[in-house]
Amino acid sequence: MAIGVRTEQAVARAVAGAAESAEALHRALQAVCESLGWSLAATWEPDTGDVLRCTDLWMAPDPRLEAFADATRSLTLAPGEGLPGRVFASGEPAWITDATADPQLPRRALAAEADLHAAIGVPIVSGRGVCGVLECFGTDAVDADPDLLASMEVVGGLLGQLAERRRAEADVHLSDQRYRATLQAALDPVVTMDHRGRVIEFNPAAERVFGWRSDEAVGREMSELIVPEELREPHRAGLARYLATEEPKLLDQRIEVEAMRADGSRIPVELTITRIDVPGPPVFTGHLRDITDRLTNEAELRASRARIVEAADAARRKIERDLHDGAQQQLVGLAVNLRGAKARLAKGDIATTDELLDEAVEDLGEAIAQLRELARGIHPAVLTEGGLQPALRGLVRRSPVPAEVVAVPDARLDPAIESAVYFLVSEGLTNAVRHAGATQIHIEVTHDGELLAAEVRDDGAGGADLAGGGLRGLADRLAALDGRLTVVSPAGDGTILRAEVPCVS
Ligand SMILES: Nc1ncnc2c1ncn2[C@@H]1O[C@H](COP(=O)(O)OP(=O)(O)OP(=O)(O)O)[C@@H](O)[C@H]1O
Ligand SMILES: [Mg+2]
Repeated sequence: MAIGVRTEQAVARAVAGAAESAEALHRALQAVCESLGWSLAATWEPDTGDVLRCTDLWMAPDPRLEAFADATRSLTLAPGEGLPGRVFASGEPAWITDATADPQLPRRALAAEADLHAAIGVPIVSGRGVCGVLECFGTDAVDADPDLLASMEVVGGLLGQLAERRRAEADVHLSDQRYRATLQAALDPVVTMDHRGRVIEFNPAAERVFGWRSDEAVGREMSELIVPEELREPHRAGLARYLATEEPKLLDQRIEVEAMRADGSRIPVELTITRIDVPGPPVFTGHLRDITDRLTNEAELRASRARIVEAADAARRKIERDLHDGAQQQLVGLAVNLRGAKARLAKGDIATTDELLDEAVEDLGEAIAQLRELARGIHPAVLTEGGLQPALRGLVRRSPVPAEVVAVPDARLDPAIESAVYFLVSEGLTNAVRHAGATQIHIEVTHDGELLAAEVRDDGAGGADLAGGGLRGLADRLAALDGRLTVVSPAGDGTILRAEVPCVS
């Protein structure tokens, strides 16, 4: 058998037997040298800057070759330069009888030291054209052998296929890397399982949410890991049914279920299961989201709506009671007095008439005062007309405990925000008087163009909490404006009520 054909076969066997393309290439270079009885073979490929670099090299175990090999590995060649450059530029194979005699070869002197003489260069050709060069060196000067050169071109084609395979492997590797990076960075748990229901992937978010480490989770049955006990059988049956029929029932839909954590506690999750498109038995990936916060917020929203409605009803009942117990009683008394006065007047009893009329005037005055007070509690006219400045000063003036407005913006604000601040200050003052035993109260309202902050500070007993009616109502009122109430009230150290509301001016 011709030597070239043996080389073709050796290279084909080397390429077929290797699991990875890098290993295959190295074995191919060795097969070339050993079948030819030559000393060194290398491959060259263009890098991104279009100069050729050595991508792999095999040499016989001979120390004299090392300097030449080192130079080969570190050399860059422009197209047309050196043996690889010439072959790459022309796309044609080249045979050099004695490389040490060619003054144009950059490694000529080193070739002489390594006792390398004959050289062959053939293009590595893939479906995309010439993608590199294979060069081989032998220790004897040998004249060109057209049959061998033809076989070496076949070897160039085999290495071209290998280059394609390497490129495909690199693409897969890259997309795998990207997929892995996405999984690692995902904020939500992603759990992948095989057709037997066993976990094959458990990302960091899943570790965080479910409390299992990835190495504990992988390999275990997913249902016994994160599915609550009563749902396990339905889960297994669903998987078996899908495998038997391939008819999806739950795939690619968003469902809300309960999931279980390592400590046995349960959390509500939103789950989407997708079948990954891979050859072979099905693989499923579950994207989960812990929706505890969302459900809590929804419940809190429902509760606060209910409280607002209840507070409005309570306010109406209070007005009804105040009117009934206050002004209505005064007016009833007034009517009685006027009727009495009229009867006395008919009898000519001027003195009693006069007394009764005096009482009537007093009753009327009190009724007016009570109505005014009541109206102010519902919505102070001064707030509507003059804004926060005069309204807060009015509150401070009527406070039985000394109070001071440290700051308040001049500008008019959104009426709902003005009301919220007014009722905050009103409630803060009332609480400080009723519960705190305070001796001094400060009120400060500031607006930085985006956020309005209102504070009521007292120097009283502290210990305020949101469990009561007044402060809870304020918190709800502020929440409805996207704002919030904070209460700082350590025992014995005064109270700070602070409201913050977004308010763009
Ligand atoms: N400034 C304060 N200093 C000390 N304790 C306070 C202060 N403000 C409130 N508290 C305490 O916090 C509780 C809750 O206050 P909140 O205003 O919510 O309800 P309330 O004043 O008791 O009733 P309402 O405001 O509905 O008339 C009060 O009962 C009181 O014990
Ligand atoms: Mg109160």
